[in-house]
Formats: sequence, structure tokens, C-alpha cells
Amino acid sequence: MVYSSTKEMLGEQTTILPEGGHFGTYTVERLLGRGGMGEVYLMCGPAGERHAVKVLRPDASEKGSGELERFVREAEFLMTVRHPNIVEVYDAGIDPETGLCFLTMEFMPGGSLRQLLESGVAMSFSGITMIAADIARALALVESRGLVHRDVKPDNIMFSADGTAKLADLGITRFGRGIERMTMVGATVGTPAYMSPEQMLDSHSVDIRSDLYSLGVVMYEMITGRRPNDGENAMCTLANAIGGRQFADVRTIRPDTPPELAALVSLLTHPSADERPASAHAVLEFLCTPGRMAGYADAAANPPRPPWYRDRGVLYAAAAMVLAVESLIVALATVWTRSP
Ligand SMILES: Nc1ncnc2c1ncn2[C@@H]1O[C@H](COP(=O)(O)OP(=O)(O)OP(=O)(O)O)[C@@H](O)[C@H]1O
Ligand SMILES: [Mg+2]
Repeated sequence: MVYSSTKEMLGEQTTILPEGGHFGTYTVERLLGRGGMGEVYLMCGPAGERHAVKVLRPDASEKGSGELERFVREAEFLMTVRHPNIVEVYDAGIDPETGLCFLTMEFMPGGSLRQLLESGVAMSFSGITMIAADIARALALVESRGLVHRDVKPDNIMFSADGTAKLADLGITRFGRGIERMTMVGATVGTPAYMSPEQMLDSHSVDIRSDLYSLGVVMYEMITGRRPNDGENAMCTLANAIGGRQFADVRTIRPDTPPELAALVSLLTHPSADERPASAHAVLEFLCTPGRMAGYADAAANPPRPPWYRDRGVLYAAAAMVLAVESLIVALATVWTRSP
């Protein structure tokens, strides 16, 4: 049976597919999670292989718009991308029995970074550095293919059994992306917390530095347990970014953060793309300096500097200048609003 709406298909059911049921040649084991476009299930194939299968809601794309076909085409491209830090995509298509669009991928038994963050554990600096380096490696490949992920966030960072972090949903994010997609699915996707200011303005014309900004926000959250723009709405975040406001230093929340790690987060989350590291490789080089990966404290004694990190004094001077300009704007705005 081909369903025309989620409501029709779900009926009394709370998931798109029932556990223990069949989907193509797979048996559905359990629901792994839900996203803005559909649900992800752990499924068992005929040879006993266990894969994660993303099943899109029937109304996740408009009928007749060619979106489903585009999704499958993009997934076919993704099948050619192989990298140890990118969740592998095996297959994609439209199931003839249900009409549901699906994507078969590598099962990540370690769950997502979102789940880890929600568990409330304080993450170690070496752990944070390793995860950030894994994602920087994935982004270096994304960059080398001339792509931009556009949705780097804790929900799309998954762990394998040995703890390797991998980036998920590459390419899929071009399917109904950006602001349009946020509008389409509302609150489910609705947090712009990880989006760079330029992506909020025009999601089509961004480059890898936009993904690096998102990585910086993810790092901020790993370090402090909260997002830098928590409590702000999208317009407020965007207005602040356009005004050149930087997020508060992570050390105001977690004072023992190694200064180099704090500086990297500040640079990655700079409102201006030109002020961020220019490539994923530059970030990787900084994070992967020998000693740093094994334990942050080892390297902190004699911290190496990335090429774009010239002098901490320059950084402080820049921060002071931003603060001064910000104070001036606030003062002018106050005078302006008070004047009759
Ligand atoms: N390959 C996978 N292995 C294990 N669990 C997965 C896998 N892919 C996704 N999940 C789980 O399913 C959940 C939903 O994933 P999905 O990609 O649909 O949504 P999302 O990334 O959370 O949000 P969005 O809709 O913005 O993409 C994830 O948060 C994760 O917990
Ligand atoms: Mg995802």
C-alpha cells in the first residue's frame, strides 16, 4: 500500500514502521531516533547485517516537486564517499511496497553526541579535542569535494563502537535545506543555534568556513554544556552576529579550559567568515599536534600555534576592539532611543 500522508499511514501507530515488521528485505528491530525528515531504525538484513535505515515521512517532501528523486540522486552520490569519519551510506531509494523513501547507512552503536551531551557528563578536554579532530577530518574531505555540509550539530555526530566520531547526513542536508526547511518542519529542526550568520542570510552561498563555525558552536557546547546563544531567538543571534558580537569566552563558564582551546573556539565562531581559520586542514593541524590528542595537558605546557594564530595579544586586542565598538553602538542606540 502506498500512503499519501503520515496521518493515514500512522493511524494508531506511533512510529512509521512497526518493530518486528518487514521493510524490503530487512526486519525492523527498533526505532533509533526521530529527526525533522523522518525516523531512523535499526534493521537486520537477510545476511544478519545490522544497518541504520532512515525512513522519510511521506509528507517530508512535496509530491510532484521532484524532491524525492533529488534525494535519491544525492544519496547515490553519497555512496561514492568513503571516509573513516563519515557515516557510510549503502543504499537509497523508494520502497515499492510502501512508497516510502529510505536511506540505508552504517549503524553507529555509540549513539550521537547529542545523547552524550544530554547525559550531563562533563567532557574531558582530550575527549573534546579528539571528537573535534575527527569532525575536522570529515570536513577536510567535504571541503576537498567542493561541498559544504550545512548541518554540523551534535545530532549529526555519531560514535562507532570504538568511540570514533563520524559525521552523518552529508549531502542529505542539501535536500530542502536551510531556512526553507526550518520553516517546513518547524520546531523539530527549528534551532538555528549551530548555523553561521552567513548561512542564516543565504544558505546557498556558503563555504566550508560556515561548517567550521558550526563545529566551533559544537565545541563550545562540549566544553561548557550549553550553546553560546541559548535563550536567544534566531533573529537576535543574527542581529548580534551582524553587529560583530562574539560569544562569551568559554572560560567564563569553564575557567579551567586550556587557553588555546578557548582561542580556537573563539576563532571558529567568529561572526565574520574571513576571520575564521580558512580550511578544515588548518583546524586539524592545530588539533592533531603530537601530545595534544593523547592528553591535552601534555601539550598545554608548550602549545603549538596554528599559522593563523599569530599572537594571543592580537586576539585580546581584537576582542577589546569588538567590545569597544559594541559599547559605542549601545551608547548611540540609547541616546537615539531617548532623544525626543
Ligand atoms: N547511522 C545511525 N546509527 C545510529 N543511530 C542513528 C543513525 N543515524 C541517526 N541515528 C539516530 O536517529 C536520530 C534521528 O536522526 P535524523 O538524522 O533523522 O535526525 P537529526 O539528525 O536528529 O535531525 P535532522 O532532522 O535535522 O537531520 C539521531 O538523532 C540519532 O539518535
Ligand atoms: Mg541526522
